[in-house]
Order: sequence, then structure tokens, then C-alpha cells
Amino acid sequence: MPDISRRDLLSSSLFLTVGAGLCAGTFNIEALAAAPKTQRALADVFSMSEVDMARESVVVQAAYRIVEEAARQIKDPGLREKTLSVLKNPAPTIARGNQAEILERLRSAGLIDPARREVFPAVRDASQSPQPFWSAPGSGYSSHHAYPGGLAAHTALNVVSAQALVKNYRSVNGLVLDYDIAVGGEILHDLHKPWVFTWSDDHSCRKEQQLAGTGEHHVLSIAESIARGIPAEVVTAQACAHEHPATSAGERLVVGWLKAASIIAGVDPIEYGLIDKGGETLPLPRRIEGWVVHLADHDFVISTSACQWTAQALAKLAREQYGLTDPRQIQAMRNYVMANLTAMHLYGVLSAQGPKAFADEVARVVKA
Ligand SMILES: [Fe+2]
Ligand SMILES: [Fe+2]
Repeated sequence: MPDISRRDLLSSSLFLTVGAGLCAGTFNIEALAAAPKTQRALADVFSMSEVDMARESVVVQAAYRIVEEAARQIKDPGLREKTLSVLKNPAPTIARGNQAEILERLRSAGLIDPARREVFPAVRDASQSPQPFWSAPGSGYSSHHAYPGGLAAHTALNVVSAQALVKNYRSVNGLVLDYDIAVGGEILHDLHKPWVFTWSDDHSCRKEQQLAGTGEHHVLSIAESIARGIPAEVVTAQACAHEHPATSAGERLVVGWLKAASIIAGVDPIEYGLIDKGGETLPLPRRIEGWVVHLADHDFVISTSACQWTAQALAKLAREQYGLTDPRQIQAMRNYVMANLTAMHLYGVLSAQGPKAFADEVARVVKA
């Protein structure tokens, strides 16, 4: 855990609410982002790694605790233990597989671009995640939550959304959904982003490739869940994050991702229970938890644009008010500011209060 000042700790406790029933104890991250901040000199910011930035950010660590707390509420002890272990170390254990063989099988199944020469991003140690879960960006550098700790912020919002959907469907419709499948699938849904989106020297992150018609993080995350023995219902729900199976085109995509992930993890998807014995659909009748995972992942609808617009506004400010010209330094400043205030909070200020309030907000965490 990072060093958290007494004031921050007190404000965290103040905003800690122990939810009744299904909802995890949640931290009011907006309140934490709005709480008093210490300004850091830009020269100090330039010497920090993205892991340092995420470690020191109270909002990032609070978001991560939301995700961990939701995992602790998983009822099945085996799933709970495996989910917590993914969060602690999302190591790319699937990279131990025979890559040449996997590539060939994916090619013959038409699930990978035939020009590809490798399936996996670079791996130094398959037993160790290249960075903590809590320091990864939430997506590619021009997409959503693209800052240190963005994955924790994205997953936290998704997880509390999934918890709320489970609770609301029950109270409004009397529909009883399985918490472990819906919330477990949501926690795991982007587990390989720390591997796929490693930070680069210029403070941006690795560019993602496509796999089976979607961002590779999705298929690699599904494969890792399979390799770690996560139950089939949870993996199937996780696979629905990027598409839902209500149309045949949508279901074909989800089934393709499950097949690709099964090739990577070295399992038979029908035997594992990931797809129906016919081989073309999810297990029938289709469980609803996959839709919960899909709906709760929709944070990206606004957060992608909000992050892009915030990044543009920050770059302008960095040039005009902080005198920066080096793109690396501009990106370092952006990462630090977003990690401490979140892109969504900043865009909320910019869109509702204008550029002056936005600049004042940024000045709370950095000084020239
Ligand atoms: Fe994803
Ligand atoms: Fe996601």
C-alpha cells in the first residue's frame, strides 16, 4: 500500500460507506479527487515512473480497494482465492504455452491475422506481471482511462455497476442473478491490460494489436482465466464484456473469442463448458450474467471521449501555462495529473465550469 497522509486516510474513512446487501464498501472517489492536494513540482513529476504515480495516488488506490473488496465478497472460496490472486499478480502464465503451435492453430481457425508472427506481447517472466494491476492504464493511450491507475478506476466503476445491476434486477424484477458469475466476470474482464499496455519510456503505453476481431487484451484475459481454472460460467460471462450474444452476429464473435482463448490455454471449449456442444453458441439457455458484465463495461462510452478531450486540454495547458514543449514531459504531466484527479473528474470540471476552473484544478497537483 502507498503512504497515505493522515488527512487522506481520515477523508477515506469518512467517505467509506458499508453498503447493505450486495454492494461492496465503496470509497467516494470523487470526494477524494476533490479533497485538498499537495502540489508537486514538475521537475519531480518528470523523475517519477508510472508505477510511482499510481502508488502515490489516493484515488487510484481507493479504486483498487473497491475492486479487491468486491472480490472478497465472492462466495465460492476457490473463485474468490483465484480472483484475488489475479488482482495481486496478473502474471501472463498463458505465455508458457507453445507460441508457434498456438499461432498455427489460430491461423487455421481463421482467428488471427495470417501476417502475425507472434501471439503474445513481450514476456520477461511468465510468473510475474510486468506491472501491478493498479498501475496499468485502462486502455490504449488514445482511448479510455489512459493514465496510471486507469485500469483500477475503470474496473472499479464497472464492478460497482455490476453489483448495482445484480441488486436492481432482483429488486425490480425478482430476477436472481449469481453474484460470483456477474461480479467475478467483471473483475476479471480486463485482467491482462497490465501486460498488453505496459508503459513506454516516452510515458505513453504499448499499442494494442487485434486478436479474433477485438483488442487482444480481451482474448488474452479470457485465456488467462481458463488457464487459472476459473469456472466456465464466469469465463463465459467475462467473454461477453465486448459483445453480447443476443444477435447471431454478436454470439459468433463471443464464441470466436472463447475458441481463440481455448486454443491459447490448451483446452477444449466444449469439454470445459464454455460453448454449447453444437460448437456455435454459448451454453444453452444463455445465462443473463454475461449481459450484466457487458452492460457494466459501458463506462467506455463516455470515458473514451472524456479522456481524449481532457488529454487535449492538458497538453494545451502544459504548453501555454507551464511552458513545456517536449512531448515526453507533456505526457508525464498528463499521467501525473490524471492519476491524481482522474480523467473523468477533470472532464467534469472542464465541461461544467470551463477552462479557468480546469486550470485551477490542475494547479492543485502540479506547479511549474
Ligand atoms: Fe476489455
Ligand atoms: Fe473494460
